[in-house]
Amino acid sequence: MVNILDRLQKFAGGPLGQYMNNAHGYWAFPKLEGDIGPRMKFRGKEMLNWSLNNYLGLANHPEVRKADADGAARFGMAAPMGARMMSGQTKWHEQLERELAAFVGKEDAFLLNFGYQGMISIIDVLLSPRDVVVYDAEAHACIIDGLRMHKGKRFVFQHNDIDSLRKQLAHAAALAEETRGGILVITEGVFGMKGDLGPLDKIVALKKEFDFTLLVDDAHGFGTMGRGGRGTADHFDATEGVDVLFNTFAKSMCGIGAFVASHKWLIDIMRYNMRSQLYAKSLPMPMVIGALKRLELIRNHPELQEQLWTIVRALQEGFRARGFEIGSTASPVTPVYMKGGDQPCGRSARKPRTVLLGGGLSGHPARRDHPAHHPHGGPHSRRCRVHTESLRRRARQTPGRRLPTPHARHERHDLGERGSELIQIPPDRLLGSFLKLGWIDHDAGHAFERRDQSV
Ligand SMILES: Cc1ncc(COP(=O)(O)O)c(C=O)c1O
Repeated sequence: MVNILDRLQKFAGGPLGQYMNNAHGYWAFPKLEGDIGPRMKFRGKEMLNWSLNNYLGLANHPEVRKADADGAARFGMAAPMGARMMSGQTKWHEQLERELAAFVGKEDAFLLNFGYQGMISIIDVLLSPRDVVVYDAEAHACIIDGLRMHKGKRFVFQHNDIDSLRKQLAHAAALAEETRGGILVITEGVFGMKGDLGPLDKIVALKKEFDFTLLVDDAHGFGTMGRGGRGTADHFDATEGVDVLFNTFAKSMCGIGAFVASHKWLIDIMRYNMRSQLYAKSLPMPMVIGALKRLELIRNHPELQEQLWTIVRALQEGFRARGFEIGSTASPVTPVYMKGGDQPCGRSARKPRTVLLGGGLSGHPARRDHPAHHPHGGPHSRRCRVHTESLRRRARQTPGRRLPTPHARHERHDLGERGSELIQIPPDRLLGSFLKLGWIDHDAGHAFERRDQSV
């Protein structure tokens, strides 16, 4: 028998916590100050900030700020008290749901207090233990964690690989026949690390071969993709085939909250069964009033999305023209791949702020084994990346390796061996390029050498 606290002390901090000593206050838990925007202060020094989800620049939009302030002044943070089902229902919550559903082209929508918990509950509502899940290997942590509650079987398909999905669907169909359950396919619209798109049109087309329900997390696609920012399903003209659509307010909407959209009858089932909403206080009024304003701006100002894409195209073309590899992104998420092996990647992950914050550039490095993705790490996790919304220096890995055990437990089919080749751009080259691009100034470059290590 072990003492739990002893074990945790020996745990050495976990996949990210192991870097706590030299990371804290730099790439982990940095304190950025000033108005949210491309330039913010870190330790009194102005930084170019690459790590925000402020895709449409709404965070400091005067009308958004006013709506947030008015909502808080009129209702306070307490209202409404209680869960939606009890005493937390208001006409504004309902109005927001109607407007969100109409915007994304679904019959109805249900508000979620947080996307992460919401997704866990959506999966919980949709599945019975007889059901079989088939999900993308690079699905977000909220999907992985939702699946950890599922008592039935699950299969993983190689990231965005339709042949692999078809193969796993065939296995799932055989199994579902045995268990007399159904099949749920889960993927994302825009993958937040690589920026590539879930091929929703091709996935929907597979419904001709297999009977399944499709759940899509479009956290990064809402506001950025599709007509007027309606999302990735709209981009692929596949809205009808996406049975359950999930979006968060945490990215383009610059807020807190999320929603799920689908048929009215299914949303009604969610309203009465989604535990994260049944047993939690309703989304506070200022968030709801603020979200109505944000949605109004997105709907009435398509130029916000156009401006985003003007910047994205310039950034991505600039990177490509200068020889950076940015991979298969087809969205505003822009990864910059690093060359090297585990060791150099590990080394630079340990002190990424020497490149980033010290160089006048603020971004967040993220390892594949970040608990946000795969809480227990594992072979799949052996890659590391600097993860920002518009800049991701990250490592690459060849496809095909089995996922870490907690998620692989029920998999019948190993995805094969995958190498863990990591690539890295030497920090001085990265820094030099940013200097040339004028994204950081020379003082910032020199500060890279001299930065104060103390936390
Ligand atoms: C793909 C994806 N899904 C879900 C979430 C969770 O959303 P929330 O921040 O609203 O909990 C995030 C991150 O915020 C995300 O990137």
